[in-house]
Amino acid sequence: MSTPHGTSDPSGEAAQRHLQAAAHRHLWLHFTRMSSYAESDMPVIVRGSGQYVYDDRGKRYLDGLSGLFVSQIGHGRREVAEAGARQASELAYFPLWSYAHPRAVELAERLAALAPGDLNRAFFTTSGSEAVESAWKLAKQYFKTIGQPGRYKVLSRDIAYHGTSMGALAITGLPGIKEPFEPMAPGGVRVPNTNFYRAPGFVADDLESFGRWAADEIERAIEREGPESVAAVFLEPVQNSGGCFPPPPGYFARVREICDRHGVLLVSDEVICAFGRLGYYFGSQRYGYQPDIITFAKGVTSGYSPLGGMMVSDALMEPFGSGREDISGFESPRRAGHAQGGGPSGTATFLHGVTFAGHPVSAAVALANLDVFEKEDLLANVRGNEGAFRGTLDKLTDLPIVGDVRGDGYFYGIELVKDKATKETFSDEESEWLLRGFLSPALFEAGLICRADDRGDPVIQLAPPLTCTQEHFTEIEQILRAVLTEAWSQL
Ligand SMILES: Cc1ncc(COP(=O)(O)O)c(C=O)c1O
Repeated sequence: MSTPHGTSDPSGEAAQRHLQAAAHRHLWLHFTRMSSYAESDMPVIVRGSGQYVYDDRGKRYLDGLSGLFVSQIGHGRREVAEAGARQASELAYFPLWSYAHPRAVELAERLAALAPGDLNRAFFTTSGSEAVESAWKLAKQYFKTIGQPGRYKVLSRDIAYHGTSMGALAITGLPGIKEPFEPMAPGGVRVPNTNFYRAPGFVADDLESFGRWAADEIERAIEREGPESVAAVFLEPVQNSGGCFPPPPGYFARVREICDRHGVLLVSDEVICAFGRLGYYFGSQRYGYQPDIITFAKGVTSGYSPLGGMMVSDALMEPFGSGREDISGFESPRRAGHAQGGGPSGTATFLHGVTFAGHPVSAAVALANLDVFEKEDLLANVRGNEGAFRGTLDKLTDLPIVGDVRGDGYFYGIELVKDKATKETFSDEESEWLLRGFLSPALFEAGLICRADDRGDPVIQLAPPLTCTQEHFTEIEQILRAVLTEAWSQL
């Protein structure tokens, strides 16, 4: 496709038409039915400022999903962009294969200080899928190294999303996005999630009993599979897919006990839940549990450059050596069933890496992003305002289509139902019309970016920038109220 050289109208109608034609001819959007754009333009977002983004026609949208659970500090932050530009001039690229560079070291040290307990080691990647993939590979190699080679299986929850690369996809619990890529990597095992709205009858009226049951299902799965074959349990602090399932009280304490009892690693997949989404740097801190590994991505840079990674415990690091002991200067605590018995740390090599992991520009951007968190006390903003956010969204429960509003922090799911009294959900055809046929375009048209999703039951997902305050919550509620009311009247 030729470029519109010579046009006298570079940002006007002609440029827009060219961009649309080129997008239709050459660009492949992710998780998108491309044929749905056969007769229409693709939305083109050209810039962002604060909590808002703007399309190529100048129309403004409230970014109620932080892009894709990413833009924690909001859009258009010059100081973060400039930190990336400075780094690119100084050292645009060098690998973390055998070498270090200053920004990766500084970021690793800073993340270790922020992470809970003894998660003192940062292994960087470029994305969340790679982080999840890395955590599984580490778990497998760790167990082989310490003489438990049979442990390779991973447990994760129904409908949970943990990424799309082949390893991460085997951990993902969404049959619909796995089926075209079968066979999966062996070892993925599903356990129930913590959707209390859809809890089985025998625990449906008591949240704590429900949580105990859901945690105990993890133990039952470990016993069924054979504990000597299970490497890790992957859980998000709040499960996103399905529409925000927070953990019931006591759930994670019990999961931790179960993991320790069976020598299984607890991986907290915080690709969404870290970096303030729940009012803490890490979601596990909100619910008071200690993971062996935390996977992260998205909000670590607020999207100003891509980065992911995992924070790893001292105990897990031990077979791989811990650098110069005189500098690290810590006694690593050991967990029952893992590397036991003292002795010098090991000499194994983690046989894993990717070219752009811990990219200098991304590491510099992450440091600048964390500076914004500190300067503006964004965690306090979330903790101080989350009650108001919930209260504002709760108003929507007077609509007949709103079955449940759930979440924590700045992270909510609104479940849509056909019948509130019976919690009856929509048929596949109704859901297709409601979410893709009506809500997605109508919400966008009304100026709100959020997600209408039916990977579980139909939900609307919200995760706005952490800088949002009541005026934004009100705008979200008003747009949702108008569009959901219209949807109901057309059903
Ligand atoms: C919990 C969780 N894990 C992993 C991933 C995969 O991250 P990425 O898209 O950066 O590969 C995601 C993406 O949304 C996620 O939400």
